[in-house]
Amino acid sequence: MNKPERNLALELVRATEAAAMAAGRWMGRGDKNASDNAAVNGMRFMLNTIEMDGTIMIGEGEKDEAPMLFNGEKLGTGNPPEVDIAVDPIDGTRLLSLGRPNAISVVALSERNTMFDPKHIFYMNKIAVGPESAGAIDIEAPVSDNLARVAKALEKSVEDVTVIVLDRPRHEHLITEIRQAGARIKLISDGDIAGALMTCKPGIGIDMLIGIGGSPEAVITACALKCVGGFMQCKLWPRNSEEAGKCRELGMDLNDVMELNDLVSSDNVFFAATGITDGELLKGVIYEGSHIQTNSIVMRSKSGTIRYIDATHSLKKLDQIGNIDYGPKFE
Ligand code: FBP
Repeated sequence: MNKPERNLALELVRATEAAAMAAGRWMGRGDKNASDNAAVNGMRFMLNTIEMDGTIMIGEGEKDEAPMLFNGEKLGTGNPPEVDIAVDPIDGTRLLSLGRPNAISVVALSERNTMFDPKHIFYMNKIAVGPESAGAIDIEAPVSDNLARVAKALEKSVEDVTVIVLDRPRHEHLITEIRQAGARIKLISDGDIAGALMTCKPGIGIDMLIGIGGSPEAVITACALKCVGGFMQCKLWPRNSEEAGKCRELGMDLNDVMELNDLVSSDNVFFAATGITDGELLKGVIYEGSHIQTNSIVMRSKSGTIRYIDATHSLKKLDQIGNIDYGPKFE
């Protein structure tokens, strides 16, 4: 019998908790940069405590743009295992700055050289579903076909299907098509990682995510869906002919349909996310004077285990053992 291996996601969650607790202080205060700095500092501090030789494949900004967690940045103690890391200290900075639902802090990790690098292509066209509809979608097919297939897989009518879509002018035609097919739509202003994950959590009532969103978020979403058994297809979506040209120069085929294994080829993927603002997926951070409460999801693809962790953090004790500013504490 094999011995159970280390579950790095249980260590990653300390980083998403730290980022969420530091950033959550900025809820509704209209300052995206301050919240992002707080989240980045908290996340970096905790990720550096983990026994790993990590390289950020999917980061916040470009090299030298400190204090962001940049692509290529090394994280961890430098000892094995060698891993790729994808970070999104806040997915939904605008949601957080306005106090809107579903801002989350996210980290994913996989074996070295297994994450797709979208380079300078910022957007991808995505379609994502939960485990029960995994075989039903085809990004190349008309939206109405996908809705019909998902409805069939879920043994309900298209009118019962609820689709999550980023509320963007670029989705005007897509929204019209979904409406014409008769499905229900939940328009979100930001946060398509949480949106995609909602399709996998029973009881939320979201069946599909569709539309164009960030490429880094697509890789992170693929890591999460691998853990939870959902499915996604993506296509690179250059914004203009210049980006399309660069894609071709780099040998990236715009017609390629990328699936989970193309976005993250490892079968040993770890994922952790902590809620910053309240949402369907996770509860937000609650500040209670002397302590802070957090709610997180922690997953590992190899074992398929999904954990929800409710944590209570003592502000006084955290102050004594770490360097992260979690804000004022009430003694
Ligand atoms: P950030 O919080 O990192 O800015 O991302 C929010 C987000 O809504 C993502 O969830 C989504 O993939 C992307 O932005 C969509 O990009 P855009 O806002 O440019 O349409």
